[in-house]
Amino acid sequence: AKRLSAFKNRLIIRLRSVLHDESNVFKSKQDNPYNVQYHGLQRSSNIPRDQLLCRLREILPSVPTITGKEPAFVDSPLEAAVPSRPLLDPQERFSSCAIVSNAGALNSSGLGRIIDSHELVLRFNHAPTKGFEDDVGKKTTIRILNSQVVSRAQFQFLKSDMYSGIKILVWDPCNYTSTLEQWRDKPDFDVFTPYVKHRELRPDTNIHLVNPKSLWTLWDFIQSHTPVRIRRNPPSSGFLGLALLLPHCDKVRLFEYIPSVRLTPHCHYFDSGVDTSCTFGVWHPLAAEKLLTLNLNHEDDYTTFQTGYVTVSGYSTINC
Ligand code: C5P
Repeated sequence: AKRLSAFKNRLIIRLRSVLHDESNVFKSKQDNPYNVQYHGLQRSSNIPRDQLLCRLREILPSVPTITGKEPAFVDSPLEAAVPSRPLLDPQERFSSCAIVSNAGALNSSGLGRIIDSHELVLRFNHAPTKGFEDDVGKKTTIRILNSQVVSRAQFQFLKSDMYSGIKILVWDPCNYTSTLEQWRDKPDFDVFTPYVKHRELRPDTNIHLVNPKSLWTLWDFIQSHTPVRIRRNPPSSGFLGLALLLPHCDKVRLFEYIPSVRLTPHCHYFDSGVDTSCTFGVWHPLAAEKLLTLNLNHEDDYTTFQTGYVTVSGYSTINC
């Protein structure tokens, strides 16, 4: 217990130190690629768990997707391409949901069985299960893909069976104050062409695009509960996954999103790349996300830092 509590303290110190470094960068460089204009609050994240969750629910009750009926997309190929069934029906409920981060710390975790025991399993990007079943399981209900994965040939978005027959949510950021028209004309990566192509090739796959405005709503939530300025880039896929599932799951478990004692400089469980910023953040406001997630966590130190997952209550189980 003492060892885990010491690990936890060191982890929190490290996350806070990244956070402070980032806010210093903010002051000096003023680099603001998405033209974020935030004039709201910056307050402590240290408020009661349920209150924090209620605030998230208030600001983003569900993650909206593009319907194709928005004026920006009417009469474009997207209008006909978006499936009529939603990614998740507003009434759809799951008793337990697992979010599997891509962290290198999943290696040798043996978490596969417990991950697969969840009713819904969410994975990210091109993360494989084949060959890693013992550590990450083999069930996939949803994948969240960033726009690089759908638009760069190396990820085989239109070819690989990994992206077929499941639910898929694709995200690409707009600028903080962009309209959908501006995003349509200048996405970060062209998500629209591969999306429409995928719909033609794999009509059975329930694939949707995140309304990119909601990424900034989520960013606002993170910033408004972080006492220092955070990086002005969109939240990570991991935090987006949490926001996506909270309205639909009684409980959401995130595996190795908060690093356990298996913490490693390896970025991903499925490749050999070494990069500590994957875990602590360099582009996304990851340190702030993780500190907030720790505040939302129900599990004890053993489960969080030894076993390797945190649990957050779904919106249906809290009274706001
Ligand atoms: O690296 P990638 O973006 O594909 O990973 C998916 C998500 O997993 C990230 O958005 C992040 O939330 C989480 N992750 C992490 N630590 C890592 C790698 C990924 O928390 N080392």
